[in-house]
Amino acid sequence: MSLRQRLLLNVALVLGLSVLVGAGMSYWRSAGKIRTELHSGFVVGEQVLKDAVDELKQSPRPYQQLPSVIDRFSGGRHVKVSLLDSNGNRVAESRLEMPKDPAPDWFYHFLGGPHEVSRIPVPSNLQGYSAFLVEADPRNEVQEVWEDLGGSLIVISILAGLVSALIYWTVGRELRPLAHLGHALSRVAKRDFSMRLAEEGPRDLRVVTQGFNHMAAQLEEAEESKTLLEEQLSSVQDEERAELARDLHDEIGPLLFSVGLDTAAVQKALGDEASGDVVERLESIREAVSLSQKRVLQILGRLRSGTVEDLGLEAAINRLIEFWTSRRPTLRIHAQVPEDGISPELDPVIYRIVQESTSNAVRHGNTNVIDIVVERDPVKGVRVSVSDDGGGLKSTRAGHGLTGMRERVAARLGVFAIGNRLDGKGVLVEASFPANAERSETSAFMGAGPAIL
Ligand SMILES: Nc1ncnc2c1ncn2[C@@H]1O[C@H](COP(=O)(O)OP(=O)(O)OP(=O)(O)O)[C@@H](O)[C@H]1O
Ligand SMILES: [Mg+2]
Repeated sequence: MSLRQRLLLNVALVLGLSVLVGAGMSYWRSAGKIRTELHSGFVVGEQVLKDAVDELKQSPRPYQQLPSVIDRFSGGRHVKVSLLDSNGNRVAESRLEMPKDPAPDWFYHFLGGPHEVSRIPVPSNLQGYSAFLVEADPRNEVQEVWEDLGGSLIVISILAGLVSALIYWTVGRELRPLAHLGHALSRVAKRDFSMRLAEEGPRDLRVVTQGFNHMAAQLEEAEESKTLLEEQLSSVQDEERAELARDLHDEIGPLLFSVGLDTAAVQKALGDEASGDVVERLESIREAVSLSQKRVLQILGRLRSGTVEDLGLEAAINRLIEFWTSRRPTLRIHAQVPEDGISPELDPVIYRIVQESTSNAVRHGNTNVIDIVVERDPVKGVRVSVSDDGGGLKSTRAGHGLTGMRERVAARLGVFAIGNRLDGKGVLVEASFPANAERSETSAFMGAGPAIL
């Protein structure tokens, strides 16, 4: 059950209890009031009837006067007078004014209570009649209470409705930051730390939203540094492995080869004169060299696994996309790369351009969509472009990333440029390499806007 519903239920309970207590108290007061009113009406009526009976006693024509005695009470609201014959049957009775809109019977029985009744004998000069009956009738009094109660119930219901609506609305409004907080926390659980909450609402909740915003900012910062470190680490590892592989291949390989050649030359020079022991040792040197060459090849294979050279350009870029999208679930990266890459010489350079530009787009541009295109054209050469839809370039300072890309492209006789996109939505990085790989004075760069770095 939500907090809102709980509060409403509690208020409804309190209101219900108050209505019950109020009903009990008004029953007690109304019953007392009805009793008092009826009793005083009854006492007056009884006295009036006694006076009338005295008058009848003196009257020379009591039979003619009898109806007027009863009529005297007609139209009354609390007391009814009846005339009983000698068998006790009612032969005449006064007309009691009845309420227009009477209370229901159950209410009448509930409040009415026992009526007061009194019997006054008729004077002896009236034959055939036994007595007058005076009765208190609570109908009119009960109807008044019923009417009051109806009015009070309407007022209470309107008040209860207003109070409930007010509570529902106020609580909903005041607790809105909590609903937003719940939504934001679920985004944090999905590793999206970009959400910030408006610091509004009651003071206690404002402290909570401020705390959340602070926490999200810290988490976002920590996530960014972690991603950057991971990225740098993997790039440094890749470079070191490639360098080690190159050193092994370029330096140890020729050395082993020359040891093998020299050993063969010594074997040839010694010819048949060599003693059996020397021949055996020379043979074992050749075997050791050949084994070392095989081992070096295996190590080279292991060092190259996971590099662009080993995976191929397309797979390496796909691995990069996976790296970023697993860390930024909202990020979309589209790549269009030739299946078999461009060439063993250009692929590592292209990969570094894509790697650094993607990293820059995420880190500096806070982008949502990145488009990578690597295309080959027999006339125009090779074109690499990385565009994002982030905030665009704000600084003209070139760091290691841009300098490194520029140097790598220049080393392959290419042209490099970076600038804001013409549609003003982010940054476009472009590199182009001539088809014949010769340094050309004319730029193959087709970028949008001037290169600013
Ligand atoms: N896609 C981009 N969106 C917005 N700004 C960018 C983008 N790419 C580069 N920049 C701006 O260009 C500057 C230089 O980028 P560069 O890659 O050379 O350095 P860096 O990313 O700051 O640091 P590092 O040397 O670690 O790469 C960045 O600091 C940033 O201000
Ligand atoms: Mg950079």
